[in-house]
Amino acid sequence: MRILPNRKKRRADMRPALLIPDVITGTDIRIPLGLHLLVSGTTGSGKTNLLLAILTALICHVEAGDVCLLAIDLKDGVSANAVKNLYTSIAGTIEETVALLQKVRRLITSRNQWLKENFLLEVKPSQKHPLVIIMIDEALQLYGATDPDIIKQQRKAQDLLDQILLMGRNTAVMVIAAIQDPRKEAFKLRERFPERIALRLNDKAEAVMAMNQVAITQGAAPWLIPTGSPGLTWFYDTDEHMAIRFQSPYISIHDLQAETANLHPIDASRLFPDAPQLPHKEEQ
Ligand SMILES: Nc1ncnc2c1ncn2[C@@H]1O[C@H](COP(=O)(O)OP(=O)(O)OP(=O)(O)O)[C@@H](O)[C@H]1O
Ligand SMILES: [Mg+2]
Repeated sequence: MRILPNRKKRRADMRPALLIPDVITGTDIRIPLGLHLLVSGTTGSGKTNLLLAILTALICHVEAGDVCLLAIDLKDGVSANAVKNLYTSIAGTIEETVALLQKVRRLITSRNQWLKENFLLEVKPSQKHPLVIIMIDEALQLYGATDPDIIKQQRKAQDLLDQILLMGRNTAVMVIAAIQDPRKEAFKLRERFPERIALRLNDKAEAVMAMNQVAITQGAAPWLIPTGSPGLTWFYDTDEHMAIRFQSPYISIHDLQAETANLHPIDASRLFPDAPQLPHKEEQ
């Protein structure tokens, strides 16, 4: 008799995960923590709210000091600032974004150095080496400028983000990005995200790009979500090879502010000890 059945599933269940409540079934959806996650959805489909649900799921980790959140919010940091107690650092302009990504890139180099010195292959998130999560709502704002100076900055940011997406996995650096338009030309870094979530999309072709063909074959159909149903979501579970449909909870920003009122995230000077400090939005 097998004394330990379902080992593969058990191993998957042991991996750190984000638990997002499904309003329809009352159960939690497990989204792997540590793998880059791309959230796609048309305007009004509920991307920003889903990111707030993800932040809610991360509060206990920030409190415990094993997760460190950074925000790239190119609308002057207004949305991220509303929940600033969660964030170690907020970049609200393209210049601040480049500076922040450079620091993360240097952190990856120093963590790789630490791995080499200790003959290890990957950083296990802990208070000593917190999982760094870069949250980017409206990631397409890193593209498409017309001003030559801003184009230059955007290219730097895209290049750094590409390196971070490539090298982050082993060094406990994760990116969660949300986009309205999943087409390849619009978001060239799409392929670097192993985990995909889609809210409402315009058509099947967009859904294939936002998730992947396998997810669609397994039944994911984000183009069938009606316009008036924000928060209805498809997630492709790469462990179970299953497309899962769920409804994310509505998160009130006031509730999230209340929940995080006494939160003290890891200080930027601790996370990036060697870097000149980015002024906090409030101090600028
Ligand atoms: N899970 C949900 N349950 C109930 N209402 C929701 C849910 N998700 C989003 N909404 C509501 O739907 C509206 C649009 O949501 P949200 O701003 O998150 O969309 P979005 O995809 O970020 O849009 P945009 O691309 O324009 O920024 C908001 O009024 C929000 O409160
Ligand atoms: Mg939004």
